Amino acid sequence: MFITILGAGAGGGLPQWNCGCRNCTDARTGRLPPMTQSSVAVSVNGVDWAILNASPDIRAQFAANPSMHPPSLRGSPMRAVVLTNGDIDHVAGLLTLREKTPFTVYATSETLGVLDHDSVFCVLDPALVTKQHITLDAAFHPLAGMEITPFAVPGKVPLYMEGETVDTEAMGENTVGLRIAGGAKVLYYIPGCATLPDWLLDRLGEADMLLFDGTVWENDEMEQTGTGAKTGARMGHISMRGDAGSLARLSALTDTRKIYIHINNTNPILQPDGPERAEALAQGWQIAADGMELEL
Ligand code: MLT
Ligand code: MN
Ligand code: ZN
Repeated sequence: MFITILGAGAGGGLPQWNCGCRNCTDARTGRLPPMTQSSVAVSVNGVDWAILNASPDIRAQFAANPSMHPPSLRGSPMRAVVLTNGDIDHVAGLLTLREKTPFTVYATSETLGVLDHDSVFCVLDPALVTKQHITLDAAFHPLAGMEITPFAVPGKVPLYMEGETVDTEAMGENTVGLRIAGGAKVLYYIPGCATLPDWLLDRLGEADMLLFDGTVWENDEMEQTGTGAKTGARMGHISMRGDAGSLARLSALTDTRKIYIHINNTNPILQPDGPERAEALAQGWQIAADGMELEL
């Protein structure tokens, strides 16, 4: 299986348009590599690709990655888009894909419902763009030789769908993880996850590679960096640090290649010489970057 990190960032990217935090400033001055927003490309044959989440930066991501360039006068190696939730950073890129090339969008009924509810997404010509409902725990095949099984992980509804009360650890069709099998290897892709219960740890034991929610280092990181008051938990994202954090909870996964993705611009692991990055690396993690190419 071939895996390309199209965008390693969380919603907002790095630098975020309205943010002057240390990381964003460092990205503007060239001290840190910038990150586009959350998206991954996967392929079995290196020719046909499925895109996991369509980021608002998809146009620049495709331009920057030769494997996504048109093979002919008009067309794309992208055959499918698979959505893990309805967040803006994961669906807004669909609007860029409106220029008359066929592909299939795979998402749960909940997430497709969000798209159907908003007439701007009608710009995707149904004669060319097929919307395929996927069901929790039922495998589908977006590419020949690739089987994907979506499953519920703790999470919440998209920000713009939040009501007065929000269950930030809801289990259902709103937030899914993907088990991706191809070429006898298993990849798990979970860009948003609120907690790591025991059943999920057990499940991830079979993973050859894990791309996991690296949004925040610490739950109160936005407050600490002066960028906002929202906690990671309120955003539906587990922290890396702490007893219930992903570093500790996933420490037993020693046979799995573990890579943090969906990294928020406030996260101190982005600092190359910082103790946080050193700690994550020491615990066997890799930190995704835009354009990173992986093979399984
Ligand atoms: C998230 O992952 O929490 C969302 O992308 C937030 C957002 O909509 O910006
Ligand atoms: Mn996001
Ligand atoms: Zn920032």
